[in-house]
Amino acid sequence: MNKRNRLEYLILLSNKIEGFFSMKCVIPAAGLGTRFLPITKAQPKEMLPVYDRPTIQFVIEEAVASGIDDVLIVTSKDKRSIEDHFDRSCELEKNLEEHGKFDLLKTVEEMSDLADIFYIRQKKQKGLGDAIYCAKKHVGDEPFVVMLGDIVTKSDVPCTKQLIDLSKRYNSSVIAVEKVPDEKVERYGIIDGTMVSDDIYKVNALVEKPKISEKPSNLAIMGRYVLYPELFDYIEDTEPGAGGEIQLTDAMAKLSSVYASVFNGRSYDIGNKIDWLKTSLEFALTDMEHKDEILDYIHELIK
Ligand code: G1P
Repeated sequence: MNKRNRLEYLILLSNKIEGFFSMKCVIPAAGLGTRFLPITKAQPKEMLPVYDRPTIQFVIEEAVASGIDDVLIVTSKDKRSIEDHFDRSCELEKNLEEHGKFDLLKTVEEMSDLADIFYIRQKKQKGLGDAIYCAKKHVGDEPFVVMLGDIVTKSDVPCTKQLIDLSKRYNSSVIAVEKVPDEKVERYGIIDGTMVSDDIYKVNALVEKPKISEKPSNLAIMGRYVLYPELFDYIEDTEPGAGGEIQLTDAMAKLSSVYASVFNGRSYDIGNKIDWLKTSLEFALTDMEHKDEILDYIHELIK
């Protein structure tokens, strides 16, 4: 065993002793992307760029920054480009090398090295709960992470890492929530909770896309979850709910213990055209090389 392997082995062993095995992560990416038609007719919603990279790359980067190295993407037909994006492209790499484009070469190589990425197909789009159920075999009998591709987050400690830490503290399923205004309540899963400490709630009930008149609060589930594996049994017993789909929220409502943590950071919901465009613009303005040019262009448009 060489020095590096020995070190990795020791880290693994100490993690095992402390029960800190890195969690697996499931990213559902099987939806039809109807909110983005016609852009998504022949290309996956998850591959839409937010400025300079596909949205799903942001999500996987957050997973990796949270200590996850095993990612299962639940796909469906017509989603091949996701696999290609995270695969090696020998032809492209050779070309970049030959032309001395070493920065780009590094970017491309890093992308295919981010994590161990696995794929499974959801055969029929029966809802988010059903998509997560496709991960049952891969996940096994351990708590696991779910990350929705519609949400990109920014924070000092990655959102998913915050949840993993909390899940270990409470020995429970944990979800991230955010306060939304009344007019947005119908778009999300909403919790009813009792505050147990600063920004942490013990969840009493969960409702998927409630009417404003029936909302239990304004705390919306924001697409990051750590879930206990008994969830899979509950999904099996979950009837179609909001929108005629098997909802993850309805299955979660049956879990014996769920805590909700108000996300300490900035989230971007890119699940609709306007917010996606705004996010792309905001991210573009953090690119110092092009910021001024973009601002000049915006000023010109306003004129
Ligand atoms: C899904 C979830 C919902 C959650 C939302 C976050 O809804 O079902 O509970 O609040 O993601 O983006 P969807 O956006 O798939 O309708």
